[in-house]
Amino acid sequence: MSNKLIIAIDGPAGAGKSTVARIIAEIFGCEYIDTGAMYRAIAYKCVQRLVDIDDDDELNELLDETEVAFKDKKILLDGRPVENEIRTPKISSVVSKVAEKKAVREKLIEAQRKIGEEVSVVMDGRDIGTSVFPDAQFKFFVTASVDERADRRYKELIQKGYDASKIEIYTEIKKRDEYDTNRTLNPLRKAPDAILIDTTKRTINDVVDEICERIRRS
Ligand code: DC
Repeated sequence: MSNKLIIAIDGPAGAGKSTVARIIAEIFGCEYIDTGAMYRAIAYKCVQRLVDIDDDDELNELLDETEVAFKDKKILLDGRPVENEIRTPKISSVVSKVAEKKAVREKLIEAQRKIGEEVSVVMDGRDIGTSVFPDAQFKFFVTASVDERADRRYKELIQKGYDASKIEIYTEIKKRDEYDTNRTLNPLRKAPDAILIDTTKRTINDVVDEICERIRRS
């Protein structure tokens, strides 16, 4: 078990986890680790290399020669920043399939645990409180209605200049929820001891205040 401070923030796509986690990390002087970005980076490399993820040999070979790390809060794939490349609708549509592969999860969970042993972290993802750090000092499960999550993603993509469709995003988020919740390995679940935070119709500040208050109070 890590002797560093671990704050786990899990929840479905678009619930506002990363925005909130980033601010909480600043406030408590921790590193912010976006584990979704790690899965996205692997998915991106698979797409780039046209790897058949159902072929274990191909996937293992790619994993053996892949390094995912963070520097200055930015995700690096084999030493190269890939923040924008991993956020495209194409990667969003394939990432869940990559994330359910055992070899991918083993590699990334090992890397996540190593980070948590070295520094205090706010780590966001799907399985941080249940699998990666079941002994984390603080666990939150942040969620929101599918409608609101789709709306937020839509606005985010439009702002970044993508030609997004609300209905497509809604469908993709629902599909991803289903995939992430029903996969065999480390599915998206609220840990029994995680605090549930529903961000529907709430501002970021309001949610951050509640999380800070709960951390300080305990
Ligand atoms: O948080 P995100 O939407 O960027 O995550 C992308 C995908 O990665 C998500 O659909 C499921 C997967 N993921 C996971 O399986 N486990 C995590 N800890 C984080 C993300």
